[in-house]
Amino acid sequence: MAVLPIIIAPDPRLKACCEPVEQVNGEIVKLMDDLLASMYAARGIGLSAPQVGVCKRVIVVDTARREEEPKPLAMANPEIAWVSEEMVGLEEGCLSFPEHYAQVTRPARVGMRYLDRGNTIREIEADGLLARCLFHEMDHLDGVLFVDHLSLLRRGMILRKLVKMKKLEEADAV
Ligand code: NI
Repeated sequence: MAVLPIIIAPDPRLKACCEPVEQVNGEIVKLMDDLLASMYAARGIGLSAPQVGVCKRVIVVDTARREEEPKPLAMANPEIAWVSEEMVGLEEGCLSFPEHYAQVTRPARVGMRYLDRGNTIREIEADGLLARCLFHEMDHLDGVLFVDHLSLLRRGMILRKLVKMKKLEEADAV
């Protein structure tokens, strides 16, 4: 397992629409393991392949609390089967947007289908934090970022701050 660097927004690689996985083979299982290792290293609860520069429909999540056993979930080609009519507003962050959080409204519950690490089709129903995390990571596969759910003004503010942060880091590196 390798801990991969996570791409920070704004970056065109975060805006691409990812390719479906043909089958979950050794290469995809390695990608799943690398994503999990990178997510845990960054203390995140979800990560998608495009965030490490791989344009494939693969996501990982683990919403277990610190004191609980880890509950890693790795999915290829995740698809939404149904969503609840009930919507809920929750604060979201993203490993590609360090230190930025905002309230986003999404369906409260979701049913999904995906391929697991054994290339078997699985179904899952989720609510609460897990549902939220799955919606957020699925969005990444279509180049949609959580700031895209915010007002233009709010999104612009966050992106300008990140551009500034990147410039400062580049200046430090010289
Ligand atoms: Ni994210």
